[in-house]
Amino acid sequence: MADAAPAARSIKLIAFAASLRRDSLNRLLLAQAVLAARAEGATVEVHDFREFIFPAYDGDMQASAGIPEPVQHLGRLVTASDGLLLSSPEYNYSVPGNLKNTIDWLSRIRPYVVQDRWALLLSASNGRVGGNRGLWHLRVPLESMGMMIFPDMFSLALAAEAFAEDGTLRDAALRDRLGAVMHRFVSAVGRARA
Ligand SMILES: Cc1cc2nc3c(=O)[nH]c(=O)nc-3n(C[C@H](O)[C@H](O)[C@H](O)COP(=O)(O)O)c2cc1C
Repeated sequence: MADAAPAARSIKLIAFAASLRRDSLNRLLLAQAVLAARAEGATVEVHDFREFIFPAYDGDMQASAGIPEPVQHLGRLVTASDGLLLSSPEYNYSVPGNLKNTIDWLSRIRPYVVQDRWALLLSASNGRVGGNRGLWHLRVPLESMGMMIFPDMFSLALAAEAFAEDGTLRDAALRDRLGAVMHRFVSAVGRARA
């Protein structure tokens, strides 16, 4: 990839799919995104969303017991990274409640742990819009905390039929588009770091 700056070789990303479902389509998409990011030279650490499921946010709990250690752990992961690959389902045209709760807890750590970190948002849905409406909602709380949300996003429509047995995307045009989006994302993060 000609314009991948040397700094892009060392960028460090964390990745997770915001679904608890065993057969999550978003987890399948995330796996392809991770392969694409690694092909661009990024180091990617994949996490299970269960690690980031916290009790329902309760200001009294925070006041009496502080920010729970698992939230602090996620904060440290984000701080130690250059950014995030996040594939999220769309629930009712918006952000799944579990994920919003994770973000709300994370937002209680100051300074914001996502400040100046980058994110590439992806979504998969068996619908025809691929969950893209939810990603527009997801940008808002992350940007409110100073995260750099990459302008391009990747939404996979009709996702239940989209994957081959080996987990790859059947459609070569979609594979190419995912690779191209990832190339631009990793290059941009690398340039920002340089
Ligand atoms: C509460 C709920 C709301 C949903 N709302 C939408 C929606 O607005 N748009 C959509 O495309 N799919 C919607 N779906 C379907 C999900 O996109 C679908 O279940 C998807 O497979 C979930 O992602 P996962 O496979 O990674 O778990 C909804 C599912 C649930 C459980």
